[in-house]
Amino acid sequence: MTPLNVLAISGSLRRDSLNTTLLREAERLGPHHRFDHYDGLGRLPHFNEDEEHPAPSAVIDLRRRVQEADAVLIASPEYNASIPGALKNALDWLSRPAGDDGPALALKPVAVVGASPGPFGTVRAQLALRQVLHKMNARVVQQPEFLLFQAHQQFDDGRLPEDSPARQLLCAVLDALTQLTISERQQALTGASVH
Ligand SMILES: Cc1cc2nc3c(=O)[nH]c(=O)nc-3n(C[C@H](O)[C@H](O)[C@H](O)COP(=O)(O)O)c2cc1C
Repeated sequence: MTPLNVLAISGSLRRDSLNTTLLREAERLGPHHRFDHYDGLGRLPHFNEDEEHPAPSAVIDLRRRVQEADAVLIASPEYNASIPGALKNALDWLSRPAGDDGPALALKPVAVVGASPGPFGTVRAQLALRQVLHKMNARVVQQPEFLLFQAHQQFDDGRLPEDSPARQLLCAVLDALTQLTISERQQALTGASVH
């Protein structure tokens, strides 16, 4: 297994967030990867075109962490059938070019997961998130999809039980993210040698 530097972004600011718990579990299930858990969503200023230059320090920190990551794993709650405003705000900042560099998330391998206590497991939020990431030209894992419904009943002391299908599926998402990252790297190398 190729080790990755994974930037983990939870769309929830809540202390006992199910989605942040999910990202901690993903880290335990992929011990060969190095996880950087981003917890600055709540400190980002509201996106404002008038305040892009110079970029606020919190934005510079987020961009750097995305750039340094091989891949990004986003776990988002569903708020009113979409993604939380704090996550959308971060994505709006990340959609903007930084100096000579393009947008930090462009061409970046990204996997999307989500947990909800409800019966639909963030399906609508994930659709909304995929639409935004598509517009940002991120490379998004398409399969498998990971939707954790009734998530408050699925964790046992913050862990997904060993025999739970959700745990296997989360491993499969990490595998797919690894494969996507490898193939994007290979394509970049091939492209570089052609030109
Ligand atoms: C403003 C708001 C809107 C919500 N809307 C939805 C929704 O549309 N669908 C859903 O499944 N859960 C919804 N929920 C419930 C969240 O799924 C639940 O609070 C979840 O635990 C949030 O994720 P977290 O545990 O990672 O913070 C909503 C919660 C809030 C606070």
